[in-house]
Amino acid sequence: MSTQRIEDYPSSAPHAAITRDRYISTDFMQQEADYVWAKVWNIGGRLSEIPEAGDYITHQLGRDSILMVRQEDGSVRAFHNVCTHRGNRLVYGEEGATDLFTCSYHGWQFSLDGVLTYVQDADDFPQGNPCGVLNLPEVRCDIWGGFIWYNMDLDCESLDGFLGEVKTLLDGYEMEHMVRISYLVSEVPCNWKSIHDNFCESYHLPTTHPELSEFFDDDYKNTVFELFDTGHNLMRMKGALPSQRDDEPDQVNPALAAELEEWDMNPRDFDGHAGDAREALQQQKRNLGPGRKYTYFPKLLDEQLTDPFHFNLFPGTTITAQATVVGLQRAEPHPTDPNKCIYENWRLVAPGDGKARVPNELGEDVAIEEVEKTVVTFGEGSLGYIPDQDLRVATGQQLGFQSRGFAGAYLTGQESRVQQFHDCLDAYIRHGCANSA
Ligand code: FES
Ligand SMILES: [Fe+2]
Repeated sequence: MSTQRIEDYPSSAPHAAITRDRYISTDFMQQEADYVWAKVWNIGGRLSEIPEAGDYITHQLGRDSILMVRQEDGSVRAFHNVCTHRGNRLVYGEEGATDLFTCSYHGWQFSLDGVLTYVQDADDFPQGNPCGVLNLPEVRCDIWGGFIWYNMDLDCESLDGFLGEVKTLLDGYEMEHMVRISYLVSEVPCNWKSIHDNFCESYHLPTTHPELSEFFDDDYKNTVFELFDTGHNLMRMKGALPSQRDDEPDQVNPALAAELEEWDMNPRDFDGHAGDAREALQQQKRNLGPGRKYTYFPKLLDEQLTDPFHFNLFPGTTITAQATVVGLQRAEPHPTDPNKCIYENWRLVAPGDGKARVPNELGEDVAIEEVEKTVVTFGEGSLGYIPDQDLRVATGQQLGFQSRGFAGAYLTGQESRVQQFHDCLDAYIRHGCANSA
């Protein structure tokens, strides 16, 4: 079965109708599992989680579980986390280190490279000894950006091809050298798409996150939206610039002043003409960055030094890249319930010249050190100030999707990335249905 790209579909194909059933239907959820999630490159974890041979992690994606293992030669291989004897889950838990994997049912053993090396009563198989034959079912695996990626479709296109322009634009940040200082996870009472839709549009910024207008020019007329034929998209919103919607857009606000001071600039130099600060700050970062051990700054565009580059990767991952901080959020399907999903919020930071402490996603000053996962009970703990706002609306929307009075989304032009996301989803499902017919 081949993997398709969205351009394989005629542009005359109708846009997806964004109706409530796709957020609440178990049938649609199953189609997504079979024809979307099992066909795309997914992030299984960070490479830094498995530094030594024998280290492993697992990733639960819907009902599938994938086992990723560091090999003796330093490479990483990924397998379905299932015993080939009678289907017992092979590895329980999310991380560990071992010399071999032993099934807890009848004791079959698999080496790090997935080869079945031992079975009890090997002479009692009329069909022949399964050792070396019934190995762990392998999936495609690749490394980029310090992330471990896997794809359950053995015939999939390369990770490079899947990422396309996104990889080119993100390469410069050298995320492989970044440190994950926030790793928050929660089961959230909404469909995964309610969250990803939200991350695919900035129409909600003035209403849901009014405080962001201090940091970015959230006026859509000044924002660039790019839709890639891979199904991914990008929003480039100007940073280090007060919102041009503001009453006094020419005044340096506290957020801009703080950023200028951090880079040894005097905010008062821009009194009454705050709009000039952005380009001056880009130059200053260009000049001072390498000396502060941000040695990758020469690889970044001027805009990348001040502006958030907000990527939505099909299907459910969002990467918001700023010069020294990258946020990764993702929403993945719940194993059985379309009204729930698994939401994750990571913050990666560049170590730089050893600023001892930096703010994490919860606004706490922390050391630049890898953190363990924190599971947050939704509604009790915070998943970050801004994400809490987004999740509040996404869960409210999920309640609305239960209403038979909702006819379907009616989008603004600036929400075109939401439409593209659903069009791509439908393209994958159409392709999957056609191939399974
Ligand atoms: S199911 Fe794993 S050894 Fe039998
Ligand atoms: Fe938001």
